[in-house]
This record gives sequence, C-alpha cells and structure tokens, in this order.
Amino acid sequence: IARMSSKPTVYVTRPDVDISGLDLLRESCNVSTWSKPLPVPRDELLREIKGKNALFCALTDKIDAAVLDAAGEQLKCISTISVGYEHIDVNECKKRGIRVGYTPDVLTDATAELTLALLLATNRRLFEANKEVYNGGWKSWSPMWMCGQGLKNSSVGLFGFGRIGQEIAARIVPFKPAQITYTTRSPRPEQAAKVNAKRVDFDEMLCLSDFIIVCCALTPETKEIFNSTAFGKMKTNCIFINTARGGVVDQKALTEALHCKRILAAGLDVTTPEPLPLDDPLLQLDNVVVLPHIGSADIETRKEMSRITARNIIAALKGCEMESEVSV
Ligand code: DGY
Repeated sequence: IARMSSKPTVYVTRPDVDISGLDLLRESCNVSTWSKPLPVPRDELLREIKGKNALFCALTDKIDAAVLDAAGEQLKCISTISVGYEHIDVNECKKRGIRVGYTPDVLTDATAELTLALLLATNRRLFEANKEVYNGGWKSWSPMWMCGQGLKNSSVGLFGFGRIGQEIAARIVPFKPAQITYTTRSPRPEQAAKVNAKRVDFDEMLCLSDFIIVCCALTPETKEIFNSTAFGKMKTNCIFINTARGGVVDQKALTEALHCKRILAAGLDVTTPEPLPLDDPLLQLDNVVVLPHIGSADIETRKEMSRITARNIIAALKGCEMESEVSV
C-alpha cells in the first residue's frame, strides 16, 4: 500500500482517449478516469480532482479557480488534449505554480487538411448536391445547376497566420488563387514569403476577400470579432470558413448574414454551443456546411495527442521540461 500511494495520482476526464496515452501514464502514476465517453459533469470533476497531482483534460472541461481550489495544493500540472487552451484559466494556474501542457504541432496538418475539405465542400456545394442525389432533385445534367465559386483567381484571406494558418495557405496555393492575404497582430514576413501572402489589416481583408478562413486562437481580442459590422463589410460573394473556435463569431449575426444572402456561404467546424441544437436556425440554411468539431480528427493525430498529453504530465511530475508547455 505504501508503494502504491507513493505514485503520483492523475485524473483523466475522458475514458475514450487513445489507450497508448493512458498506458504511458499508468507506468508511473495511479490513474483514475471519468467513466463515460462524454464530458465529465462539473460536480463529478470537482469531487474527483480532490487530492490529485495532475489532470488530463479536454477542451470540453472548464478549468477555473473553483476546480483548482477543489483539487488542492498538491496539483502540479494540467495537460489538455488540444492545441486550444482557452478553457483553462492559465493565469490562475500560474499564480498557483501549476504548469499547463497542450498539443500544438502534431495536429497542424490534420486541421489544415480538414479546413481545405470543409472549404471545398462549401464552395462546391458538396452536401447540397449530394442530398439531391437521394431526394430526386437530380433530374439531368444541367449547365448551371449546383455551380459553386472556385478558388482559382480568388482572393483568400486568412484571419490568423500561425502554424495552422500557414499550412492552410500552403494547401491553397495549388488551387491558383489570385492572392492570399493574412491578418495578424505582428507581421510574419518569412512564413508569408513561402506562400506569397500579403499582410493586410482586418478591414482590408473583410473588403477584398472572396474567401475568409478563420484560424486564430480564441482570446479576449478575437472574441466575436466576426460580428454584424464585419459581415456587413464583406463582399456578397464571400465564403466564410471557421475551423478555429465558435466564440470568434457572433453566430446570430452570421446566421442573419447567411439568411439574407449578405454573404454567399459558410463552412463551420466550430459553433456556439457545441453540439449545435437541432433546432438552431443555422441548420435551416442551404448555404452553410456544419461539421461537429473534427478538425484534428485523424486517427494517428488523435493517438499522438493522447501520448503527448500523457508525456507532458509525466515530465511535469518529474519536474522536467514538458514536451509542449503553455507559456504565460
Ligand atoms: C484543439 O486541439 O484545440 C482542437 O480544437 C481539437 O483538436
């Protein structure tokens, strides 16, 4: 018993993360997990975190001061199986000396790939067209039926030009757009040169883009930055793609812009809330493609995300450098 209790304790908020990460943790820690393949209820989390040394969590868990209080002073680290960490109060963690790990890099390609898939499904109207095959709407080949707006010769704007934005841009280049622009706080000339992208300010991007792709982090500055004013400045043929976070968008304003054809279409891998209720007005529209937050969902990526999350915890518990640590 003495030997068992000398192992650090870790609480994992999902039982359905890839087993390879859990196996790694079990080699050196006592691991307990929430039992259902759904987000852990708040009261359960508050109860289970008590006395643990580490937390393995997901973007569906809100980790705030109340959770840290419930955990107690022995909590050394939190590692999230995501690149986004807006669900964790990192300032509160810093104050308490709790280290925070995340999983950037490994999911960059998967997310860029899904962004392209969503863009192409939206601009070439794949889901709308596919429905017609099944509902009898496909009467014959028709010259102007189900036509979409191609990427060729278009102006593509990336809102955010970090790892994922740069990989999206690289995948767009072969489609021969007329120009790629990006909006960021600080210029990224070297990365931009690789894809011949030009830095523009937010307003300029809104006014000139045929496609706008959101690939930024959700922060107080980006929260609902795509509001009715922003949609009002976009070209009427603009196609809006978001694989970042639903919170970057005022969703009511987007729904209105799509409904009254103020913009042409939207492809969303992220919404507010998630899951989107079945009676949400967005789901009534033909000019929107909604996916259930699957940006990083390729098998190898998710397996490695599980292992990185575990390795972050193991390193932090040993007092070593984490593989990927959030710097506050
Ligand atoms: C993330 O990692 O933040 C994605 O949204 C899910 O993989």
